[in-house]
Amino acid sequence: MPNTILIGSQWGDEGKGKIIDVLTAQADMIVRYQGGSNAGHTVIAEGEKRVLRLVPSGILHEGKVCVIGNGVVMNPLDLIDEIEMLRSTGIECQGRLYISTRTQMVMLYHRALDKADEAARPVGKKIGTTGRGIGPAYAAKVSRTGLRCGDMLIPEFPELVREQVLETNAKLAQLNAEPLDADEMVKTYIEAAEKLRPYIIDTIPLIHKADRAGQSILLEGAQGTMLDIDFGTYPFVTSSNPTSGGACIGSGLSPRRIDRVIGVIKAYTTRVGEGPFPTEDFGEVGKTLAERGHEFGAVTGRPRRCGWFDAVVARYAQMVNGVDFWTMTKLDVMDTLPEIKICVAYELDGKRIEDMPASAAELARCKPIYETMPGWLEETSNVTSMDQLPLKAKAYVERLVELSGGRLGILSVGPARESTIRVGI
Ligand code: GDP
Ligand code: IMO
Ligand code: MG
Repeated sequence: MPNTILIGSQWGDEGKGKIIDVLTAQADMIVRYQGGSNAGHTVIAEGEKRVLRLVPSGILHEGKVCVIGNGVVMNPLDLIDEIEMLRSTGIECQGRLYISTRTQMVMLYHRALDKADEAARPVGKKIGTTGRGIGPAYAAKVSRTGLRCGDMLIPEFPELVREQVLETNAKLAQLNAEPLDADEMVKTYIEAAEKLRPYIIDTIPLIHKADRAGQSILLEGAQGTMLDIDFGTYPFVTSSNPTSGGACIGSGLSPRRIDRVIGVIKAYTTRVGEGPFPTEDFGEVGKTLAERGHEFGAVTGRPRRCGWFDAVVARYAQMVNGVDFWTMTKLDVMDTLPEIKICVAYELDGKRIEDMPASAAELARCKPIYETMPGWLEETSNVTSMDQLPLKAKAYVERLVELSGGRLGILSVGPARESTIRVGI
């Protein structure tokens, strides 16, 4: 398989975990390049469901090498839990999971800051973060006060943690939040460092050696294009670059070594947290999609907001990421809808627009312009080839791809590995 970046094209939860798991069969190395334990990637394999937050979703395939790249913000305590969860289900990470010495760490004090900061924001300004400390950890990285995984390997580590706890306590006090106990934090992180030490290496030579040897590298994005700190609905975004450009920055693999980009896109749209969402449906359709699609956050359990497919979002994702192939997921969720709408453009202040506005305030004023297609009212979850799809379902998929640009690579009609139709890839 050529070196591949896989990205989310909407507001996250497109089914990236499932597709990474499917593609891993043909890859040698899987690299997570951004985000942290705000991600929840669900993989259902051999009847067992696992939700991965930091470990690449390729870990379930024996012998594949998995890397947590430098662009990730890694919470050591969450990672230890995840390694234990995998071990308890028969998957050993040691010897095939590597964490970059350059990866920034999310500490308990970042989590405390994230929660205090959200609580202090007035209604209308809240972001609805996952509360995992992601924003404060990336802020520390950029302001050059962050601790990196390599710091866990040096004797000064306890003192570095103590310094940061004391500094953060001053910020927490300003937000009227409880201070943290520095001694307790230091103890917690010394223990965590002991457990994670065997996994931490300089992953740049590891990735390049694999590439030079002709191995295939799969770069796993978390979140989605519309949550990108630069390209998303700022400020209602996450603090990293989930888009394809972020994959090189977050892994150390050169852009010249990337062969293709796969965009995962749901056959409808969902969003968790605050921020504009033009096609959101507050009625029966939204309810049906939420129920049939089990649209609850894999990490936080929060209900996801649901609505029709938005081709303005898809076209924008195509532009920003350079999607070669689409992987369309969750078509089966729409099986019972008699009529289906597709947003093809927006109306903004009385004018038709085709491109994504840069401002979230403008997007919030956009009204979707819909075209309507008939529903297929047949079950698609047992379909194993495009030819078996009901004609109306096939027409819907073809229309979405036509509106989005690019080609269809994979169609997914259920959560399990088997419910996957390979089309162009
Ligand atoms: P991710 O964050 O992009 O990996 O997506 P999540 O795991 O958060 O959410 C996707 C959900 O949809 C998970 O519960 C998957 O098991 C499920 N899923 C993935 N693909 C399909 C599909 O084609 N059909 C259905 N019905 N469920 C799917
Ligand atoms: P996966 O990888 C969906 C959303 C949060 C919030 C915003 C900022 O599973 O697709 P953060 O905690 O990152 O500061 O929150 O981003 N968000 C996600 N929404 N899927 C995700 O990840 C998300 N990760 C963050 O709900 O709106
Ligand atoms: Mg998810």
